[in-house]
Amino acid sequence: MSLEQWSAVDSYFSEMLIPADPVLEAALKHCTDAGLPSINVAPNQGKLLHMLAQIRGASRILEIGTLGGYSTIWLARALPPGGSLVSLEVSHVHADVARKNIELAGLSDVVTIIVGRAADTLEKLAADHVEPFDLVFIDADKENNPTYLKGALKLSQQGTLIICDNVVRKGRVMDADSSDPDVQGTRRFFELLAAEPRLTSTAIQTVGIKGWDGLSISIFTGPR
Ligand code: SAH
Ligand code: DHB
Ligand code: MG
Repeated sequence: MSLEQWSAVDSYFSEMLIPADPVLEAALKHCTDAGLPSINVAPNQGKLLHMLAQIRGASRILEIGTLGGYSTIWLARALPPGGSLVSLEVSHVHADVARKNIELAGLSDVVTIIVGRAADTLEKLAADHVEPFDLVFIDADKENNPTYLKGALKLSQQGTLIICDNVVRKGRVMDADSSDPDVQGTRRFFELLAAEPRLTSTAIQTVGIKGWDGLSISIFTGPR
């Protein structure tokens, strides 16, 4: 099995099931033009996020890790009227590209990007007692995944979905002795999931255009 075959199947699925979308395609081009890394979710993953938000009926979405706003647009398009999305990003350069893409997608009124270290912003959101979110998508620096999970828990309510990207990383998650802080962050994240009585969790491996990776999904069942 090869990346080439996985990518071919991803392209097939996307061609069959995801109509051409000039806004999303332009967003990716703006990312490349600005020199951003191509580490956005794949189109079929973006659509999965969109559908999960719809299934959840999410009217408040929190994203941790904006990059150029590609996943942000997929998620924000699932919001009902009156809904909103907050996305956390440490890089001003990334946030500027994302804001432009979100503007071109006609979503500026519903998306707020907060620039700063996400760990700090999460603390601030909790201290400010913002309304809880219905869906949290964790996709920033993997080293801080445990911190992001703890932050997400403070901002969750009954039924909140917490989704974390890149939890497999070519199987590296299995390397308990890894000196890679990303691997250790993800392993600690799973320990927290496993020990958290307020969450019902699973994780799924994926192959495709992004290689061999995976995502975890948790439902917050409370109590708050
Ligand atoms: N969700 C995006 C991809 C995000 S890539 C998509 O699929 O389209 C990860 C992003 O997290 C990068 O833009 C990176 O700058 C940001 N990031 C890294 N460390 C961070 C931190 N400490 N706080 C907030 N954002 C961070
Ligand atoms: C990579 C992929 C991601 O989805 C991400 O969030 C960060 C990094 C990568 O392929 O390196
Ligand atoms: Mg990711």
